[in-house]
Amino acid sequence: MKTALRLLAVASALVSSWPAAQAQQPGSIERGKYLMESVVACGNCHMQRGPQGEPLPDKGLSGGMVFEEAPFRAVAANITPDLETGIGKWTDAQLAKAIREGIRPDKTLIGPPMPIEFYRNISDDDLAAIIAWLRAQPPVRNAVEKSRYNMPLPPNYGPPVKSVKAPKPTDKLRYGTYLANIGHCMECHTPRDGKGRLILAKLGVGGQVIPGPWGHSVSRNLTPHPTGLKSWTDEQIAHSIRTGMDRDGRPYKPPMAFAFYKNISDADMAALITYLRSLKPQAVGGGKS
Ligand code: HEC
Ligand code: HEC
Repeated sequence: MKTALRLLAVASALVSSWPAAQAQQPGSIERGKYLMESVVACGNCHMQRGPQGEPLPDKGLSGGMVFEEAPFRAVAANITPDLETGIGKWTDAQLAKAIREGIRPDKTLIGPPMPIEFYRNISDDDLAAIIAWLRAQPPVRNAVEKSRYNMPLPPNYGPPVKSVKAPKPTDKLRYGTYLANIGHCMECHTPRDGKGRLILAKLGVGGQVIPGPWGHSVSRNLTPHPTGLKSWTDEQIAHSIRTGMDRDGRPYKPPMAFAFYKNISDADMAALITYLRSLKPQAVGGGKS
């Protein structure tokens, strides 16, 4: 727990606060920076980490974080523009296909836990913005180990994604759903069946046990049920997502990306909360961690 707390503290110091009024043209690098430093948070998995699992900010998204689960030992890739060990030789179109469809230029499939099923929803503009930001980062040389999957990967994550448009931010519910997808909230906050597949009928009900250097954490029920967020105010929900502390001030364990989510703009946070309030209220078997 101590280590986990320190990790959180270090991580929070890494991401500078985002000026709320910053202009964000669709597809622009500013938009990419905002998304990467807030709700999308690829760095939560792709930052290089030190021996205690602490993020190393000057190493950028050069990868190496290991995800050990029964069916795999996955290692986050180096996604800095390094020519030899990163994605420096990939074209924008190849990067787009990798992020949204999980297919590398050599046609192999990117495995879990990268949440490709959710990234299929990233809009064309936001994908372009993320790629522009990735390209602008300094290349960092870091050869990471290959992932090992002791399970068959699916043949693909679905048909090719042709074109995706984001809903209008004024349509709070649809835009909040969009943000929750590109932030893959439900990847952790939905229970899984015996085969590790998300039980979509229980969307947002939590109860997933997530192991890591912190021991384990249990994702919470985000539905408007009494065992979920029913009695929480919008302010309490926003505060918990931004600070990584519950409404009584108790710190959460990793791996939720609180250090990034603290930069989520007020409008985007309101949309996310509108989405959470729209989930079907249900109780989960699992308790709180
Ligand atoms: C939950 C953790 C996680 C998140 C979040 C995540 N990734 Fe990954 N990513 C991984 C892992 C693990 C791999 C390696 C998988 C493998 O070896 O098949 C990977 C692989 C990749 C690759 C393939 C690189 C290569 O050289 O093969 C790219 C590109 C990539 N991620 C980009 C991104 C971007 C961009 C985001 C945010 C939009 C993101 N990832 C979010 C865990 C994550
Ligand atoms: C990588 C997994 C993961 C992702 C992604 C994730 N969460 Fe979480 N979240 C957790 C875990 C685990 C906890 C509980 C931590 C604990 O109990 O120490 C939590 C706690 C919360 C809480 C506190 C609720 C309570 O009852 O105390 C809220 C609210 C929340 N998450 C919302 C979100 C939203 C919104 C997103 C997407 C923007 C998100 N989470 C993405 C794993 C995740």
